[in-house]
Amino acid sequence: MSHKITIVGAGMTGATAAHWLAERELAHIALIDVVEGMPQGKALDLFQAMPVIGKDVKIEGSNDYAASEGSDIVVITAGLPRKPGMSRDDLLSTNADIVKKATEETLKRSPNAIYIILTNPLDAMCYVAMKAGGLPRERVIGQAGILDSARMRAFVAMELGVSVENIFCYVLGGHGDSMVPLTRHSNVAGVPLNETMPAERLAAIVDRTRKGGGEIVALLKSGSAFYAPSVAVAQMAEAILKDKQLIAPCAVYMNGEYGLKDIFFGVPAQLGRKGLEKVVEYTLNAEEKAMLDNSAAEVRELTAALKL
Ligand code: 2OP
Repeated sequence: MSHKITIVGAGMTGATAAHWLAERELAHIALIDVVEGMPQGKALDLFQAMPVIGKDVKIEGSNDYAASEGSDIVVITAGLPRKPGMSRDDLLSTNADIVKKATEETLKRSPNAIYIILTNPLDAMCYVAMKAGGLPRERVIGQAGILDSARMRAFVAMELGVSVENIFCYVLGGHGDSMVPLTRHSNVAGVPLNETMPAERLAAIVDRTRKGGGEIVALLKSGSAFYAPSVAVAQMAEAILKDKQLIAPCAVYMNGEYGLKDIFFGVPAQLGRKGLEKVVEYTLNAEEKAMLDNSAAEVRELTAALKL
């Protein structure tokens, strides 16, 4: 196996991303964190699982960015997570410093890496990574839309008692409470979602999706969701390394698509070996466009607060 993925931040999300990635046997993995012993311990434990599942993945844990050398993909999850009552935006300046350093340090050692960002507030942190690295838009992609869409799919599955595999939902916009679950573009085995349940049930699912991250934070009381965010990373990394040309909602730098410029924003993105290959533009009605514009205004305000 010739590919390598570095994960910066070996907390719950980073370590669980390593787990999902190792199961897919996609790439060797470097797990980096500032906490002494923690990335080494998790990497060793995970490597000791490989004989059981029969996957030849090398997994190295380190406190030193030297371990990231020669990566095809760098995943940045490092940063403070939300506490109950906090919004993702409350984390802005602390996490901006962390993401900036992680980008600079890894890019020195992997000049061609594609970056997948998870640190919150997500859309603004993608912007930090792009600026800190002087990276082209193709190489910085934020993980959020797959997660938000998966949450909506899970809620629809719970409501209808139908396999999750039959449910296709698309959540666009910023990764905050103003995100835009596109019910008109979503379906259950080809049947438009709004024909599968009463309007008030669908509205409740839309609302629960928007607040999906906060629901988990409130339950866990310390830390935020990690299984679903990290498996979304594995899906993105697989699409990139296998050049799948997979279309999935991701945060990407907008260059006029959907009438938006100079912000990272969740849109259907085609992922392949270059990273972002293409932004797919849906036809939106006036109400959907207004919701996206509202979400974009929030992201723009937060991104401007970075003063980059
Ligand atoms: C979430 O929505 C952590 O932002 C992540 O759960």
